Formats: sequence, structure tokens, C-alpha cells
Amino acid sequence: MNSFGQRFKFTTFGESHGKALGCVVDGVPAGIKIDEVFIQDEMNRRKPGGKYATSRKESDSIEILSGVFEGYSTGTSICMILFNENQKSRDYDNVKDLFRPGHADFTYYNKYGIRDYRGGGRSSARETSARVAAGAIAKMLLKELDIKIQSGICAIKDISIPNEQLDFSNSTNSEVYSLNSSYDDKFKDAINKAREEHDSIGGIVALKASNVPIGLGEPIYYKLDAILSNAMMSINASKAVEIGDGINSVLENGSSNNDEITKDGFKSNHSGGILGGISNGDDINMKVYFKPTPSIFKSQDTIDIHDDELKCELKGRHDPCVATRGSVVAESMMALVLADMLLLNMSSKMSNIKKVYN
Ligand SMILES: Cc1cc2nc3c(=O)[nH]c(=O)nc-3n(C[C@H](O)[C@H](O)[C@H](O)COP(=O)(O)O)c2cc1C
Repeated sequence: MNSFGQRFKFTTFGESHGKALGCVVDGVPAGIKIDEVFIQDEMNRRKPGGKYATSRKESDSIEILSGVFEGYSTGTSICMILFNENQKSRDYDNVKDLFRPGHADFTYYNKYGIRDYRGGGRSSARETSARVAAGAIAKMLLKELDIKIQSGICAIKDISIPNEQLDFSNSTNSEVYSLNSSYDDKFKDAINKAREEHDSIGGIVALKASNVPIGLGEPIYYKLDAILSNAMMSINASKAVEIGDGINSVLENGSSNNDEITKDGFKSNHSGGILGGISNGDDINMKVYFKPTPSIFKSQDTIDIHDDELKCELKGRHDPCVATRGSVVAESMMALVLADMLLLNMSSKMSNIKKVYN
């Protein structure tokens, strides 16, 4: 299952150490101005490098193969490709037959009976680069409607920025994508400490979509919150999702949890901008929880494909905290879901259909 979406639909292909990765985005309306520099900028936000991510060098330079003519989408499928360049497959020779604890090796091998052990193959988060390319196209559609998505890190392990102090303008200037500049150093120290201890660390991504129109989401089984959660949980290492106040809403009463309504809008936003699976016009607020990176440089017990017990000793280059780069992926998935919901919502009323055909 390598495709996602109903009307604005994308498929990704490729493996971590294969020749190339890419995506095909289908259902893109004709006439969207396609800004190739923006697509590359998005790729660069996700790509490895910097002091707080893996030192793997991936240029992630993206090429558009189809669906764009003279700078505009043509309404046909947009295919984009990035070639793998700096893959060090030898780093994985010693894990060829064994299952890395916390990674997908055990389940992929047992399910398929074959696995590309080089970098994890299809289970590697390298696949998320293709989603970011697809997400950039979705963002260009959203931009035409002034819908904006922002994201960043609101917690690393137990160091957490209070909700009222989240500053979504900070993450683009922060090496660790933090949502408050006064937390930058605390987050960096925690990531560095994990790396120095040959370990890894988890984190939480907060997301905000603003200027979202009322009406996005297709109850019952394609509710906006359900599909956003599906999208986020499809990202590697994501382990939980919250919409609005999320799990904290159980600590409230109806009187404090309800968002009272005035003719100028809602008085609060505990719901995260979604009611009954449909956007209510308020900001959509979400959180995505990422576990610590499975690949660590400590010796761990495991078994191999022959069921022999042995020690897993890893080499190679790995992110000490995947939540940081994961925030860009989560943002892309949110854009892809909203683009799909925008197109789906257009046929919800006869009056909309008449606007097109009368
Ligand atoms: C942006 C990003 C980068 C990642 N980089 C690594 C990595 O360098 N090493 C690693 O072991 N896992 C990495 N992961 C996580 C694994 O891909 C993931 O844990 C693995 O596929 C198992 O899936 P699961 O954790 O969802 O069960 C990364 C995840 C993301 C989102």
C-alpha cells in the first residue's frame, strides 16, 4: 500500500539504498504555479545534515519528470524523482542477517520473507523525502487559498514548551526546529547528551494549520481528524497523535472543554479546529509523538534470521532524534490531507456543483 488520498492522491516509490526514490501526485488541478525552488527548499528542510541530525550526506536534489508545463501544473500526474548518491551500503553488511531492535527488520522479514537490509530499504525514513516533494505540491495548492501550515518541536523527552508559549515563527530559524527560542539550548543539550551516550531520544511535534475553511472532512469514515491521524501515524517512528487538547481533555469537564460560540467565532479552541470530523474554521492544532531513533550505538541483544541469539552492534550514521526532521514530514502530510479534503468537499452540495456547471 504505497498510495494515499482520494482526489489529491500520491504514490511514493523507492528504497533507501536503491537507485532512486520519488512520487507520483495525481489529481492536481491544472493552473497551479509550480515553484521548483520552493520544492527544493522543502526537500532541504527535511534532508540530513547539521549538528543535530545524522551526518549522512543526501543531496535530495529533486527533478520533475511530468505534469508541469511552462511553470504551471497541467492537470496530469506530476512525477518527481531524486537519485540516491551517498549511500554507504557497506555500513549495513554486519546487520545483513540480524534484526535491529526497534526497527522494522523483524516484521518486514517475517511478513515478506525477503528484505533489503541496506538502510532498511522501504522501511527507511528516506521514503519520507518523496512525501515532502508531494507535500510541496499540496502546499502550493493551499497557498492559492491562503492556507498556511507551520510546525516545530514542542518537547524533547521530558523538556516541554507550555502550549501558551509555542511560537511557530521560531522553528524555521532554529537548528532543532524548536517552537520557542529560549528552549533551543535545552533541546540541543538533550540531543547532544543522547548522542554522546551513544543513545537516542524522543520528541513531540506540534502542528498548526491556519485559515482553513469550514467544511473539510468527510464523515463518517473519512473524517478530517481520522485521516490526519492516519497520515501522521504513517510516518516512521510516530507513536501517538493528539488533536486539539487531546488526552488532556479527559481532565476537563464539558463546561471547560467546550468551545463556546459567538457570532464572531469560537471563544477558545480546545477542539483543535475539528468538530464531528469537519473543520470548524478555527486553527487546526495537532501533536505527533516520535519515539527515540531505533538505531543506537550501544550493544543490544537480538536474533538473526536463523533464530540464533547475538549482539547487535551498529555502524553508520543515524539521527539521534528523528522528531526534528520528522516535523517537516508531518507538515507535508498535513498539507496532503488538507489538499485532498479541499477537493473532496467541493462536491458536498448541489449549489457547489451548479457553480461549476451552470
Ligand atoms: C525523519 C526521520 C528520520 C529517521 N532516521 C532514522 C535513522 O537515522 N535511523 C533509524 O534507525 N531510524 C530512523 N528513523 C525511524 C525509523 O525509520 C523507524 O523507527 C522504523 O522504520 C520502524 O518503524 P516504527 O518506529 O514506526 O515502528 C527516522 C524517522 C524519521 C521520521
